[in-house]
Amino acid sequence: MSFRIQPAAPARPNRCQLFGPGSRPAIFEKMAASAADVINLDLEDSVAPSDKDSARANIIQAIGDIDWGNKFLSVRINGLDTPYWYKDVVDLLENASERLDQIMIPKVGCAGDLYAVDALVTAVERAKGRTKKIAFEVIIESAAGIAHVEEIAAASPRLQAMSLGAADFAASMGMQTTGIGGTQENYYMYRDGAKHWSDPWHWAQAAIVAACRTHGVLPVDGPFGDFSDDEGFRAQALRSATLGMVGKWAIHPKQVALANEVFTPSEAAVTEAREILKAMEEAKARGEGATVYKGRLVDIASIKQAEVIVRQSEMIAGA
Ligand code: COA
Ligand code: MG
Repeated sequence: MSFRIQPAAPARPNRCQLFGPGSRPAIFEKMAASAADVINLDLEDSVAPSDKDSARANIIQAIGDIDWGNKFLSVRINGLDTPYWYKDVVDLLENASERLDQIMIPKVGCAGDLYAVDALVTAVERAKGRTKKIAFEVIIESAAGIAHVEEIAAASPRLQAMSLGAADFAASMGMQTTGIGGTQENYYMYRDGAKHWSDPWHWAQAAIVAACRTHGVLPVDGPFGDFSDDEGFRAQALRSATLGMVGKWAIHPKQVALANEVFTPSEAAVTEAREILKAMEEAKARGEGATVYKGRLVDIASIKQAEVIVRQSEMIAGA
């Protein structure tokens, strides 16, 4: 039992992160008009090497020109194993308007990766007199990333969110998967003549959630590649939500509504949470630490669960 209070993750909605390539500025307005809580303009793998410079320029211009409303605005830079990342950071921080909220660092492998980016960001922020401190989000998508997930979660006070990137993760781990996220054909238990599919992403997600919750970071589920498979996306998102993740990426606009649906607590869930809190208040007034609500035990742990749901719904309503 630890005597320290578990730190709270940033109080902002992060139900859906919508991605779009920086080399495709025609969709930026559409991204801004979407219902996603977070926008991720990409400089990394959806942008060809020959387009990196123009994508940077597109993004810098769009950050200032487009009305992004109250969305959290993030740019995914290139990985530290490329020749592009330092220029991504320097160009963005020197030239993008203060509307930029966050930088996403992909393929993070150890705490030192965040230290390196933090040092560069801090220097440019000071040099340019930027007043808003840029937040970080990271993608865990390698064997090193998952092996060092806890030190990464603790690495920088700038860190607000951490995603699992299923495709690069599977490649780095040597996993024999086909789809990006979701059910994998060959991952099943066999019994009584029938296959029972299991979830190969479960352990990595649980490790990310534990690291994030320990250090006050938002755990997020990454991409689901087959954007024609709504039920597959919903099932993956529901499993992530059950494990404690707060949101999921959309790599196509049609996935935004699906993610919002799963990660917005339902009215029934919020009503029930409020009733549980009331029942516990009444129990406390009677000097009892536990009581019965709708035929089941509720106690101190139920208060914490109910408070999470009420806090989430208030945060979304206020967004
Ligand atoms: N954000 C907002 N709008 C988008 C969009 C996006 N990421 N992707 C497509 N749209 C728009 C299209 O412009 C089109 O708009 P219209 O109806 O006004 O013409 C509409 O949504 C339907 O698009 P569709 O034809 O189904 O898709 P597409 O072939 O144009 O693009 C992808 C499909 C997958 C290439 C595109 O969605 C995309 O680039 N996604 C992000 C990829 C990415 O960033 N990956 C990195 C993270 S893994
Ligand atoms: Mg990746």
